Amino acid sequence: MATTIIKFSNSKTLHPMHFKQHFDIPADLTYLNTPGNGIIPRQVHDWRRQREVAFFDLKGSLRDQQADLVNSVRQTIASTFAAKSEQVFCTPNFSFGYSTLLDRLPRTYTFLLLNEDYPSLNYPIISRGFAFHSIDITHHVEEDILQAVKKYKPDVFILSLVQYITGVKIGLDFIKTLKATFPDLLIIGDGTQFFGTEPFTFQDAGFDAIGGSGYKWLLSGFGNGFMLLGDRLIELLETPLRDIPRPKEAMWANKSILQTFFEPGHQETLSHGTLGQSLAFLQSQGLENIQQHVQHLSLIAHEELNNRALLLPEVALREERSTLINIQVSPTRYAEFMEAGISCFPRGTGIRIGIHLYNTEDDIHRLLRIVDQH
Ligand SMILES: Cc1ncc(COP(=O)(O)O)c(C=O)c1O
Repeated sequence: MATTIIKFSNSKTLHPMHFKQHFDIPADLTYLNTPGNGIIPRQVHDWRRQREVAFFDLKGSLRDQQADLVNSVRQTIASTFAAKSEQVFCTPNFSFGYSTLLDRLPRTYTFLLLNEDYPSLNYPIISRGFAFHSIDITHHVEEDILQAVKKYKPDVFILSLVQYITGVKIGLDFIKTLKATFPDLLIIGDGTQFFGTEPFTFQDAGFDAIGGSGYKWLLSGFGNGFMLLGDRLIELLETPLRDIPRPKEAMWANKSILQTFFEPGHQETLSHGTLGQSLAFLQSQGLENIQQHVQHLSLIAHEELNNRALLLPEVALREERSTLINIQVSPTRYAEFMEAGISCFPRGTGIRIGIHLYNTEDDIHRLLRIVDQH
């Protein structure tokens, strides 16, 4: 059977199966700001509109089924990331889940941090008065982490898998090695700039905890996120709570003790539901396929930018590459990029872009044309 080829007005031809067909992106816009916030798939947008109407229909019952909705999203998060549903906590964003976790850890714990990691990771350690050491991120950051763990013997290592300013990505294989080498070290991760770009299997990843917000690479809008906790950490957190009486009210009878900390009160079901819908969308597209696509484009972008000496040295010298790139042109060129229809953001010493499933090779070439205009 002949294959129909979809024509996009702003580009050459795209295969009908191209991910971009699931998004409404104006022809004169090159959307590269996923590290800021990602685009919601059209079908998920439609779901939101219908859900909002049905939810506030006075004759409807959705407002009485909030726990069911959150539990179904919990299952979807669990199935997407190969976790058990009792290891999943649905939170309004990464920061809430993470600071709730910190507040349940012994005050005597010491931490290892990465300098210039996202403020929601490092500042809560400082503001709570925990003892910590921190190291700079160089192109051999993995080796530096191993040395620092040996030297400082922290109880906990905290990291964003993909750094939000530089795009430096700490390899998943390294996390497994780190865990195997130091089994007692708790590893707490932030996957906000990572989840949605490739498959992730929580059960053998080596993390004791990892969380994320949904509005970037998970295409889910604001107000949703999650924290995944490993069995050993759950045990550690639950032990001091064993003697505390459990809530007796019927409305909390089904909550686990940790849910009373991570999921207190009512949740915004439109937001959580959006995460559930977008995860189902990502699953339907296949995270392996998405990974192949974004890595292919990211490789082209890295190569082109490297040829122009526009990559950060700690990125250029590494093999592991993420889909978040900080282009070393002056951040003052931000307005020029935006006027040319390149959606991006000034960060650190350059301009930050991200390449996701809805991007194309044309997007990279359009970006490079603007980069080269100086
Ligand atoms: C590395 C990283 N982690 C987490 C977040 C988001 O956390 P939150 O939604 O809690 O602000 C961001 C957002 O920019 C980020 O870049």
